[in-house]
Amino acid sequence: MALLMLQLMICCGLFIKLAEVLPFQDQFLLLRSSTRDSPPSLEGKVALITGAASGIGKATAAKFINHGARVVIADIQHQLGQETANELGPDATFISCDVTKESDVSGAVDFAISKYNQLDIMYNNAGVACKSPHSIVDLDLAVFDRIMNINVRGVMAGVKHASRVMIPRRRGAILCTASITGLMGGLAQHTYSVSKFAVVGIVKSLAAELCKHGIRINCISPFAIPTPFLMEEMSQMYPGADDEKLVEILYRTGTLEGANCEPNDIANAALYLASDDAKCVSGHNLVVDGGDSGEKHGQRF
Ligand SMILES: NC(=O)c1ccc[n+]([C@@H]2O[C@H](COP(=O)([O-])OP(=O)(O)OC[C@H]3O[C@@H](n4cnc5c(N)ncnc54)[C@H](O)[C@@H]3O)[C@@H](O)[C@H]2O)c1
Repeated sequence: MALLMLQLMICCGLFIKLAEVLPFQDQFLLLRSSTRDSPPSLEGKVALITGAASGIGKATAAKFINHGARVVIADIQHQLGQETANELGPDATFISCDVTKESDVSGAVDFAISKYNQLDIMYNNAGVACKSPHSIVDLDLAVFDRIMNINVRGVMAGVKHASRVMIPRRRGAILCTASITGLMGGLAQHTYSVSKFAVVGIVKSLAAELCKHGIRINCISPFAIPTPFLMEEMSQMYPGADDEKLVEILYRTGTLEGANCEPNDIANAALYLASDDAKCVSGHNLVVDGGDSGEKHGQRF
């Protein structure tokens, strides 16, 4: 308390002194310029992003490159992944990777190291939707295993192999894509929802160990975003509706007036969490949902 009072007195004293010698506009400019910051930078950093051939991963790869990073795009879709890398330019490289195969994930990490000598950012983003029936009594455990294999085991493999190369350097930032369906029940089929709750759990559990090695791990929970992942699901729910109509329907479900959640919004969150601006943030689930999870569904005033 005494320290706070002292800081306040120093600040007030400084301002009174400025007021004596400078006109008001100059005082404002001086104070503002002393607090002005540059945008988050990834200059010199190397990132590996799984599921980056399309959607959120692709938008994030483009964002990271725009902020100075070199990016390895790891995806199961060989041709699309290669096309994405070509589109993003010389700072993007593609490697074929199925996150359900530990050897592929390990190989992608080793590829980043052999090409760039370092790995600063690992973004475990690959994930798939689940088309199983809604009721637990109809649950197909083979489908459950398949989804958990990609959405949870694939993330765990990424965290494991990123940690393998980051721990000796005593630094690194690991990101994962969770979902608002991993925050609240009733938003998706159980299998998908459970897989995303598990991603949040991975982040919380691993943060406790990795902080001792100077490595941060966080996840992002997006709201529904019009990527191939969701558009395919929606086209089955609304047969005959074209893409424009589907996006319109999707955006009507948003909560925040005047803002539609897009891949670039998730890329912005990833940029912050991957950058040194978030140097004290670990074990966090950054929810990017326009406030949707903060309201009780059906209660709008
Ligand atoms: N779109 C949404 O509404 C939404 C909302 C919340 C969370 N998410 C999550 O965002 C992440 C990215 O999805 P998206 O919306 O960008 O969809 P997307 O379909 O555009 O991208 C997913 C990418 O993951 C790749 N992939 C799938 N299985 C893979 C595997 N076994 N190994 C490697 N790559 C694989 C696909 O080829 C694809 O390029 C997923 O984890 C998804 O669960 C999406």
